[in-house]
Amino acid sequence: MVNESTRIFNSAIGASAISASFELGLLDALNESDPFDLEKFCEERSLSHWAIGGIMQVLYRFDIVKLDAERKIANKGPEFDQVFADKGYFMWLVRGYGNLLHNLAGIVEDGNCDTNGIGRDGKFIAMSGRDYGGRYVDEHFTEVMNEEPFTVAADLGCGSAERLMGLARARPDFRGVGVEVNKGAVDLARRSIKQAGLEDRVQVVHFDVKNLVFQPEFEEVEVLFCFFMGHDLWPRPNCLNAFKSIRQAFPNLKRFLFSDTYRSDFPAPGDPPIFTLGFEFTHDMMGQYIPNIPEWEDLFDEAGWDLKGRHDLSIAYSSIFDLRPRNNGNGQS
Ligand SMILES: C[S@@+](CC[C@H](N)C(=O)[O-])C[C@H]1O[C@@H](n2cnc3c(N)ncnc32)[C@H](O)[C@@H]1O
Repeated sequence: MVNESTRIFNSAIGASAISASFELGLLDALNESDPFDLEKFCEERSLSHWAIGGIMQVLYRFDIVKLDAERKIANKGPEFDQVFADKGYFMWLVRGYGNLLHNLAGIVEDGNCDTNGIGRDGKFIAMSGRDYGGRYVDEHFTEVMNEEPFTVAADLGCGSAERLMGLARARPDFRGVGVEVNKGAVDLARRSIKQAGLEDRVQVVHFDVKNLVFQPEFEEVEVLFCFFMGHDLWPRPNCLNAFKSIRQAFPNLKRFLFSDTYRSDFPAPGDPPIFTLGFEFTHDMMGQYIPNIPEWEDLFDEAGWDLKGRHDLSIAYSSIFDLRPRNNGNGQS
């Protein structure tokens, strides 16, 4: 039995090895071809066989792969499928937040504990989010969206607008509008929409959800959704205003599918599920408060939203809250 200190040390190396083998294409290659010729893989990409062998050796230690003595042929190990499914989480931590992990003490000492100061890498956060989102979120999203008919939807904090484009591909009559504050993300989303030939049905507006007001594009929106940005709207008074103004900005809204990862309040000491510790730690380092479920429910109620149901995602402590605008008796619905 190894002691906890040893386990933590070895795990740090394991996390880097998983992230790197995902980024290098090793995990996908082994997933497609088992057994897998490591020597050929390295030759084709001009990679050092010695270095790749070293990475694979770490994965071997964790039972993720099996390796021959010369490190030329790899097979899937008993832990492969789970690690393959979770690989986005490792890239999110090691690559997305690598600067924070590496410079933690200095960042704290220099008072750089905010979203810009920690130097997170948005490209890898987006890439990894696409991987674990595709595996652990999309199926739930489709299921909840399809519970009721709709033709026009909007996505708050749409990022790359991938969800809206997915809906447009799946439904020929669908029209959608994304709202996004980050200019880089807006440009990326608009380029992707154009490339996909969907610009007549999917648009993105450059807006801060904190100051949302009615736009002509919002007139016909029946379903609104918002994934993984709600906590960015806190502290509470700001978030409460935003949730109130959302009701005013979308006059014909029937549903608001609000989804986020909430605070676990997982008892310490102990191992919370994968992602939870990383999510809460990185947000602490950015000075970003993560509300728990009672805090969210209290806010929905005060902002005039009725909670019709809650659908848990396959990411720990993450749900879709199915909200309905409450008719408050003064003409607003
Ligand atoms: C974690 S990403 C999630 C992206 C996408 N919803 C998804 O699920 O993949 C959060 C997104 O919300 C955007 N965002 C954050 N605060 C915002 C605000 N106040 N108004 C509009 N967009 C915002 C960010 O720029 C980013 O693109």
